[in-house]
This record gives sequence, C-alpha cells and structure tokens, in this order.
Amino acid sequence: MSDTLTKLTYQTFQQGKNYFGLAHKTLSSQLRKLVHPTLEQQVKPIPNEVLLKLQEKLNQLLETDWQDAEKGVYPKSLLFDNPWEDFFRYYPVTWLDLPQIWERMKQNNNQDFSPEIETDGYPSYYMQNFHHQSNGYLSEMSANLYDLQVEILFGGSTDAMRRRILAPLKSGLEIFGNVPPRNVRILDVACGTGRTLKLMRAALPQASLFGADLSPAYLRKANELLSQNPVELPQLLQANAEELPYLDDYFHAVTSVFLFHELPATARQAVIEQCFRVTKPGGVFIICDSIQKSDSPEMELMIDNFPETFHEPYYKHYATDDLVERLEKAGFENIDIQVHFMSKYFIAHKPA
Ligand SMILES: C[S@@+](CC[C@H](N)C(=O)[O-])C[C@H]1O[C@@H](n2cnc3c(N)ncnc32)[C@H](O)[C@@H]1O
Repeated sequence: MSDTLTKLTYQTFQQGKNYFGLAHKTLSSQLRKLVHPTLEQQVKPIPNEVLLKLQEKLNQLLETDWQDAEKGVYPKSLLFDNPWEDFFRYYPVTWLDLPQIWERMKQNNNQDFSPEIETDGYPSYYMQNFHHQSNGYLSEMSANLYDLQVEILFGGSTDAMRRRILAPLKSGLEIFGNVPPRNVRILDVACGTGRTLKLMRAALPQASLFGADLSPAYLRKANELLSQNPVELPQLLQANAEELPYLDDYFHAVTSVFLFHELPATARQAVIEQCFRVTKPGGVFIICDSIQKSDSPEMELMIDNFPETFHEPYYKHYATDDLVERLEKAGFENIDIQVHFMSKYFIAHKPA
C-alpha cells in the first residue's frame, strides 16, 4: 500500500473510532437521563470553540503519531493494532454494566466491592470505583472492560497518546548505546492491561521488558495480551509502586502511563522517589498522564468536568500539582515537558 493510502486509512480508522466514542457517550447519557431523570451530573456545558480546539489537538496528535511511524520509531502496523476480539466480546457488557454504575452514582457510593473480591492488603486510596468501574481495578470483568472504556472516553486515541512515550524512550536509551539490546531493561510502572508494554515491544523488539501493577486481574489480562506475541514475554509482577521490589539502579528506563492522576499527593511523591531509586544513573523516567490546568487554559472546563463525570477522587489535586518540583525533589534533572491532545509527558533524567 502506498504511504498516502496508508495514512488515509489510518486517519479514516481513527475517525471511525472517534465517531463511535461520541455515539456511545451521547446514547448512554440519553439513556441515563431516561432511566434516572434526577441523576444530574455537575458538569458545565462545553462551548463549541472548545470542542473545535479539542478536535484540532486530536488531529495534531494523529499527525505526530503518523510522523513517528514514518521516522521508524515504531512499525506502521502498530497504528492499526486494535483488540477486536475483546471489542466484540465485551462491548455489549459495557451496556449491561450501566444500571449498576448509575445505581452507585445515585447513592454516591464510590467504594463498592462485591463480597467475593479480595480487598485486603491494598492501600486505602486504591479501594475506589475509579471511572465508576464495577469492583474498581479488582475484578476480571473490570480488566476486560477497561481498555474499551478508556477508548470510548478518548475517542479511540488512547494508544496514540501512549505511543508518545516511545520517541523520548528511544532517545533516552541512546546513552546506553554500548549495552547489548537484550540487556536493556525497561520497567512500566502501573502497566495495567499491558497495552504500553505491547507498544514498547514493537518499538524495542529485543529489550527486556518489565511491568508492575497492584491489580492481579489486570496483570492476568496483560499476560494474556502479551503472550499473543511469540517473543520474549515481559516479566509481570504484582507490586505497589510506592515500594517497587527491584534493586537500586536496575533499569535503563522507567515509564508510567495514566497512573499519577489516580494517586493522592503523598503517594505521587513516593512513587516518583521509587522510580528514581530503580533507574540507572543516566537513565530516563517518562510519565504520561492527563494535561494539567496550566497547560491549556482553554481546556480548563474539560479538566473541571472530568472528575465529575468519572469518579476520579485525586484528579482535582493532580490538575494543579507541580510534578516538575516533585521530580526534582526526588533527584531527577533535565526535565522536558510535552503535551499531546489530552495528555502530558514529563521526560526526566537521573544524573549520570
Ligand atoms: C488508569 S490505569 C492505567 C493503566 C495503564 N498504564 C494504561 O495505560 O492504561 C491505572 C493503573 O494503575 C494501577 N495502580 C494504581 N495505584 C497503584 C499503585 N500504588 N501501585 C501499582 N499500581 C497502581 C491500577 O491497578 C491500574 O492498573
């Protein structure tokens, strides 16, 4: 296929996902209003110019995604990677789950776990129905639905945002050019269902990949996804990112995607300090998370609405938190910041 045709196919594919997400959100909120007319969310209407700005930012993200593939940061085939089997199996379940979600929202019950869910041993801040998910991060069904729900939220652009860590990751590893590729170790903190590790594997086929997360169900899902690729399996470990069970200076690079807005401030600092500890001198630490208020005044309304629509108890604090100060406090230096669509990137280096 010619490059022009591949790009057009990619743009059309993304547009399809975007329309699908919009249709889902519109229909589900109309259904909610019908079933629970009194359940009103405290969201402010988004003016048209903000929606246009958002579309512009999405188009820029997709263009950067395409450009990075053209430059060879990752193969173009990655642009079309989509968990179709999960989509057909679990999309109907997202609708079946809605009545439970609405009931919890009505009762303002955001810490609801079924009796069969093992809840001992987790930090108390973790025991939440983040995004109103049934059983929080602790059930197999939550792990099966998570990627679909996030894709609907971001109009199909989640992997394009995750892929923005790959270019700075590869350039951050250049300093270790004398290390054989197989000996390069990369840790993804809060790896969830393993999508970032999957993208990393495509960009760095030989590196030793590691993933840590608190949720056993999400790790099982990650194992299922990553096992489909007949190459070396990333090593997955259940662990609290505040106490990473790895040696000091062990990893050439550490990444973390969409974790920090789900941590209270003290845990945010503790995790950054652990990431500093396990990164090798000269290594890079990359955070990808939500945009913050200071990045985009025109998106302030969206940032305010987000924790009202989705249960995100620590987001409001995150939205104005100074992560550069936290990274510097831990010892990182030379911190670069990027913003792509709804996400922000902190690329920090451990002194060599
Ligand atoms: C929003 S999800 C992001 C998952 C994944 N990185 C992604 O890109 O989709 C947040 C993840 O952080 C994990 N998590 C939250 N607090 C954690 C902690 N203290 N230690 C380890 N993992 C944690 C959750 O289990 C969940 O998988």
